[in-house]
Amino acid sequence: MKQQDMPVGMARDLEETGSSSEEEEEMEGPEEHPCIMWTGGFRRIPIMVFHAEAILTKDSYIRLIGERYRLSFKIVRTDSRLVRSILSAHGFREVHPSSNEYNLMWTGSHLKPYVLRTLTDIQKVNHFPRSYELTRKDRLYKNISRMQQIYGFKTFHVLPQTFILPAEYQEFYNSYSKDRGPWIVKPVASSRGRGVYLINNPNQISLEENILVSRYINNPLLIDDFKFDVRLYVLVTSYDPLVIYLYEEGLARFATVRYDQGAKNIKNQFMHLTNYSVNKKSGDYVSCDDPEVEDYGNKWSMSAMLRYLKQEGKDTTALMASVEDLIIKTVVSAELAIAAACKAFVPHRGVCFELYGFDVLIDSALKPWLLEVNLSPSLACDAPLDLKIKASMISDMFTLV
Ligand SMILES: Nc1ncnc2c1ncn2[C@@H]1O[C@H](COP(=O)(O)OP(=O)(O)O)[C@@H](O)[C@H]1O
Ligand SMILES: [Mg+2]
Repeated sequence: MKQQDMPVGMARDLEETGSSSEEEEEMEGPEEHPCIMWTGGFRRIPIMVFHAEAILTKDSYIRLIGERYRLSFKIVRTDSRLVRSILSAHGFREVHPSSNEYNLMWTGSHLKPYVLRTLTDIQKVNHFPRSYELTRKDRLYKNISRMQQIYGFKTFHVLPQTFILPAEYQEFYNSYSKDRGPWIVKPVASSRGRGVYLINNPNQISLEENILVSRYINNPLLIDDFKFDVRLYVLVTSYDPLVIYLYEEGLARFATVRYDQGAKNIKNQFMHLTNYSVNKKSGDYVSCDDPEVEDYGNKWSMSAMLRYLKQEGKDTTALMASVEDLIIKTVVSAELAIAAACKAFVPHRGVCFELYGFDVLIDSALKPWLLEVNLSPSLACDAPLDLKIKASMISDMFTLV
């Protein structure tokens, strides 16, 4: 997209093209187009609205919007079929990963400062610089600890007690002598349950690399005796000022073996880890083929899980309020570092946005615990429920950015 096609130009253009054309597939009164919403009061500003259904209907009228304004995107170091189909359905043209002629870059990894510096005000990328302050488990722990020191331990008690080894081995050992666990060991920067295991004795830890050891939450809330955690989708569109959106729907992911606190089970990953990547390997994994059924098998929608808890008499309004509190406090703990990096490296406002995947575990007292924040949360759609939730979530995200 060229400079004269900037959003301001787009506004003028649309206002002048009031007359309707007889030709089919021409955009008529632009105000009528389902992908344009007007905002901004007197000086009206067009906002592009994305529709999840477009990936199924492949409506050519919807596609006209991106084609008409020559919008383009590139996908780098990731294979996001969902992002590609939503953008293509709205007429965005895909350019080569090495091209600089794009409006939106969707990348699987952090951007180098020299790439960020070259971005113009008609381009957007899906990461902020220094987002690893949240998404690396060791950095997250450091940032939350700092907030606990400044604002009080209780206010920021959102993470299970954690130590980074080998640096904090002595402190860990002191805690271990008071509470023999189990504890859970994780690599400082990994995902999908890789390298995660439970211990009840420090000599079970292999100290080859930097690892993190956390108190194991051994009283998880159970549904039908199974442990589960929740994946929440959090969008940040700006760090200065901080703007956070929480998507209304999420996923509850269940373990495949009934929960049992007995020490003889601590090696059973299918009981203690709730990652889909882990449990799909279990012969007991149950998937659901009907997108309308949201509370069957090993993956439920978050709203189905909340409805279930409500029926059991649990206060789900209070639960979600504490989940929101946890999310805000977590993002705030990295706010200054990321805002400073934006100021240093990003020449225009509104260029960066980021979708984070929060993993939250709810204990039997209904307290939510933050397990980790994921950079590039999985957009894979193995089950119809994944597609239903993630396509709407990604469409809303693009509308917001
Ligand atoms: N402190 C904890 N207490 C109880 N269960 C935990 C704890 N930390 C992690 N888990 C379990 O282990 C899984 C993987 O941990 P997580 O921190 O999300 O790492 P990964 O990046 O490998 O997904 C979680 O989904 C959860 O089921
Ligand atoms: Mg995880």
